[in-house]
Amino acid sequence: MPAADELQKQKLYAADVAAIMQVRAMGTVPKAFVRTYGCQQNVADGEKIKGMLAEMGFDFTDDENEADFILFNTCAIREHAEDRVYGNIGALKNVKRRHPSVLIAVCGCMMEQERVAERIRTTFPFVNIVFGTHVIHRLPEMMYTAVTDSKRVFLRGHESKEIVEGLPVRRDGNSRAWVTVMYGCDNFCSYCIVPYVRGREKSRHPDAIVEECRALIAEGYKEITLLGQNVNSYGKGLPEKINFSELLRRIDAIDGDYRLRFMTSHPKDATRELFDTIAESRHICHYIHLPCQSGNSRVLKEMNRRYDREKYLELIRYAKEKMPDLSITSDIIVGFPGETYEEFCDTLSLIREVEFTSLFTFIFSSRPGTKAAEMDDPVSYKEKTKWFSELLKVQEEIAASRCAKMVGSSERVLVEERNEKNGLLCGRTESSIIVEFPGGDELIGAFCDVRITEARNWILRGEKIG
Ligand code: 5AD
Ligand code: SF4
Repeated sequence: MPAADELQKQKLYAADVAAIMQVRAMGTVPKAFVRTYGCQQNVADGEKIKGMLAEMGFDFTDDENEADFILFNTCAIREHAEDRVYGNIGALKNVKRRHPSVLIAVCGCMMEQERVAERIRTTFPFVNIVFGTHVIHRLPEMMYTAVTDSKRVFLRGHESKEIVEGLPVRRDGNSRAWVTVMYGCDNFCSYCIVPYVRGREKSRHPDAIVEECRALIAEGYKEITLLGQNVNSYGKGLPEKINFSELLRRIDAIDGDYRLRFMTSHPKDATRELFDTIAESRHICHYIHLPCQSGNSRVLKEMNRRYDREKYLELIRYAKEKMPDLSITSDIIVGFPGETYEEFCDTLSLIREVEFTSLFTFIFSSRPGTKAAEMDDPVSYKEKTKWFSELLKVQEEIAASRCAKMVGSSERVLVEERNEKNGLLCGRTESSIIVEFPGGDELIGAFCDVRITEARNWILRGEKIG
């Protein structure tokens, strides 16, 4: 069915579900509890799910016990993430006992794995709906089946070439917005489950992306983050010849007071043109998340990353030449199967050389079905945790010394919220460093110039200028 017709069909289901839920909630507004685990892509999916739920007449709650509908949007990237989800689903048994009419749904990357869906089917009979990442837009239909048929619904797979545009979105904030530019990943890094659960790369049409950004800026959003597992390969398979740099230039041409960010960039596809585009733009932050994963070329080869240490460092050199103020963050995996301590030390030397603003660090987690899961992994978990602590310590020193150098400077901060613990406003610089400072609620969601007065490790403190 063409995507536009499918969307129309789902709107009809949504209207029916709204009517049924209203009756079930006995005149009150039905409430949904939605919890998203994992990456920003999942957060963006969660916002679409909430958009559809709002269309089905739901209001939202943070309390599972007062919800008529509970949904967990899951992440499969590491075993620990999966275990947390199983624990939390198990705990819903009591909620269901107290409130038998509550509908429970589980979706997201975990559900695209056969073994997981099977475990939900057999171990958690109180889960009503299970669906994967390719069929999110069919939530109204699944809800309709669950409420009218009282059968369990399992809907997974069905990857289609077409992207369903025009789903309603209920955004979590009103100053920062996520815009997906591409779905899926074709890279098959040997440790990673994403290509198996999110499917092949598919780019959205550039006009749809530019229009979504234009509308967000007109609504007053101050920061847009473009999302994709590998944004630098944006454009593959589209009828129009366009690459990611060109897409960035088209969005940057929109007038307004806003920031543009993007993630994630794969070093193998990051071009000089990309850095030139950032440097020459009006709105793109001088910031890039460029995961290196390891600083050792043999390990990178085993990871199937398709660049080596030298190529990565060469990219960084070019980028810093172009933008001396460029802020770079990265993902690192410690203890990839077969990695030796000497090879791990190459990661330490790389992070010292690059001086990342911050790092997202992970101990290797074996994902069934990936190539790395079959590799010999002789180093114990305990030993890996020692390496991991060493890495954190080195990075803490780097981040603290970078932050200390910022004391005395003034920074433009997009204020996000109030830190409930210390009562200070909290926001981020263009380089994505957290800044806290005293101020009134009216500043939340706005840009504010702040003089940096103190560095507390990797968090800055300051005072508002003017
Ligand atoms: N084990 C540990 N970390 C992983 N990542 C992806 N797969 C795994 C895994 N199996 C990390 C990578 C990636 C980030 C999103 O998660 O560093 O960039
Ligand atoms: Fe996973 Fe590699 Fe794709 Fe990133 S680029 S999602 S690490 S396979």
